[in-house]
Amino acid sequence: MRYAISGASRGIGLEFVRQLLARGDTVEAGARVPWEARQLTALARDAGERLRIHALDVKNTASVRAFAASIGEAPIDVLINNAGVSGKWNPLGELDFEDMAHVMETNAIGPMRMASALLPLVLKGNTRKIVHLTTRMGSLTENTPAGVYGFAGGAYAYRMSKAALNQGMRTMAVDFREKGLITALLNPGWVQTDMGSKMAPTRVDECVQGLLRVIDELTLARSGCFFDFQGKEMLW
Ligand SMILES: NC(=O)c1ccc[n+]([C@@H]2O[C@H](COP(=O)([O-])OP(=O)(O)OC[C@H]3O[C@@H](n4cnc5c(N)ncnc54)[C@H](OP(=O)(O)O)[C@@H]3O)[C@@H](O)[C@H]2O)c1
Repeated sequence: MRYAISGASRGIGLEFVRQLLARGDTVEAGARVPWEARQLTALARDAGERLRIHALDVKNTASVRAFAASIGEAPIDVLINNAGVSGKWNPLGELDFEDMAHVMETNAIGPMRMASALLPLVLKGNTRKIVHLTTRMGSLTENTPAGVYGFAGGAYAYRMSKAALNQGMRTMAVDFREKGLITALLNPGWVQTDMGSKMAPTRVDECVQGLLRVIDELTLARSGCFFDFQGKEMLW
């Protein structure tokens, strides 16, 4: 199967590439600055034709279109919208609005640019799947004073951007159901990456093993849903 993924330079995106190559899949990997993505380029040495690395900035429409064009006519079975930023977590009154716009552009609008540009290739694929990495912090239900993490509230831009992404995913699930598009949101949990920090409880390899299982098992009947990396349905 052929996968396309954004944010493949490090963290969860890099681990997706590693595990997909290990199981024999082909990956079109997008990295913001490919020549700095040393761990990704190292994988290309053994992968040969099964890994192609492309420049990709999900904040830039021309870059996303160039990414789609450089894939060519090859069908994409699964698009993984993984790239994301956490931004600044300042309290209300000290919000940095430029940073907020950057987070919204990257996390909410970026995946829509990707889905829009790659949709024709995905609809030609065997499985027709587009999945988006989101977070439990985008949940409205869980963002209460009694929030399960004990840190509900705060992180305005990050929470807002992922909540907007969640609505975008639901909309594409409705609009393209008849064309057979299967789309879903994936919450990776709190993971040991640059974003998640070393304090996170979940190793990146176990997170991605779980996410791949969830992606493999997605069907049209479950399209439009929100799952964690163990396949459990999340609250909106
Ligand atoms: N780690 C967690 O605990 C956690 C929890 C919930 C959700 N998530 C979500 O999971 C996804 C991956 O997170 P992670 O932990 O792997 O984060 P990470 O370690 O910080 O890596 C983020 C990746 O996104 C890329 N990226 C950022 N802005 C981009 C842009 N404009 N265009 C293209 N690529 C861009 C980065 O590229 P560069 O290397 O070029 O900067 C990097 O490859 C994100 O969507 C995040 O919100 C993570």
